[in-house]
Amino acid sequence: MSTATSSILRRALLYVPSSSPKFLQKSQSLHVDSVAYDLEDSVTINQKPAARQNILSFLSDGPRPAHIGEVGVRINSVSSGLALEDLNVVLGAKNLDALIVPKVNKASDLHFITDILQHILPGRHPSSTSTTANAESNPIKIIALIESAESLTNLNAICKASPYLSGLIFAAEDFALDLSLTRTPGLSEFLYARSAIATAARAHNLPSTIDLVCTKFRGEEGLRTLEEECLGGRGLGFNGKQCIHPSQVEVAQKAFAPGDKEVEWAVRVVIGDAKADAGGRGAWTLDGTMIDVPVVGKAKATVKRAEQCGIDVDAIKEKWKHQEPA
Ligand code: COA
Ligand code: MG
Repeated sequence: MSTATSSILRRALLYVPSSSPKFLQKSQSLHVDSVAYDLEDSVTINQKPAARQNILSFLSDGPRPAHIGEVGVRINSVSSGLALEDLNVVLGAKNLDALIVPKVNKASDLHFITDILQHILPGRHPSSTSTTANAESNPIKIIALIESAESLTNLNAICKASPYLSGLIFAAEDFALDLSLTRTPGLSEFLYARSAIATAARAHNLPSTIDLVCTKFRGEEGLRTLEEECLGGRGLGFNGKQCIHPSQVEVAQKAFAPGDKEVEWAVRVVIGDAKADAGGRGAWTLDGTMIDVPVVGKAKATVKRAEQCGIDVDAIKEKWKHQEPA
């Protein structure tokens, strides 16, 4: 039950506080897979009405931000009582691709958002009994923030709650608050939650799992910490990172794209396997390591992801076109 589209790239999702016209303007010049213009925690309660109007005019009057892959808005949570007011304004914006919904604690939170999408924008969200969204109507996608113990225990139901659900985000700060945890550099206190989220998203075929914010963003040390966190997240099955500052975007997007050696290995496996297959061999060796069906599957996924990330895979294929299975 999802708008699973493996072509969606959300290696970095940058929050831009919508109360700040300066930050909104700045976002026009940024190159980033996904942006969440924020109405939630970076905007004080008094500033929310003005922030909603800022988004509406920024995403309707001006040109669509040229180098942002996906334009999203983070609304306030359903339980805050502010979500309906947010949606009444921001769903009027012309250039809106996604809603980032915080504090999704149970399936009914997403039922609420889904009903509103179908009522306010029926053209993009035709009601149907089908559990799958019709991609041709260009529905607004939902990305749900998982940030409480309740949310984690309801993950399965949340993942099935809306045909527009397209990804999950782990929000460490609110999760730590809920469980009275203290964040440590190794992040071991979040291991269960992060693994559960990555696994649930995979089980429900949701294309994105976006990992916790790295709150350090200044200087070399900040970016080194960010890179380590990204690689740790990738190791758990995440494919993107929440960012709070433009300086973080490039590091995150590089960390969540396959590296040079990885792509080269994957191309060699795919080329070698086609020849092994033609010769009637299901298992063969590359550099002394056995290659068989699951390894080839991983290599094919890496090649696809590399192409999606704009890596020149054809040049690597050309270099290795004579790869033979051993
Ligand atoms: N989105 C867009 N532009 C941003 C930005 C953001 N999140 N953060 C910084 N910038 C811009 C600044 O406007 C500045 O632009 P300029 O060089 O053209 O003047 C440039 O990037 C450098 O900014 P800098 O001075 O280093 O940062 P700052 O001190 O102005 O702001 C923060 C630091 C943390 C307050 C700011 O990055 C921020 O508010 N981030 C988002 C926080 C948020 O949304 N939290 C909730 C989600 S977890
Ligand atoms: Mg939060």
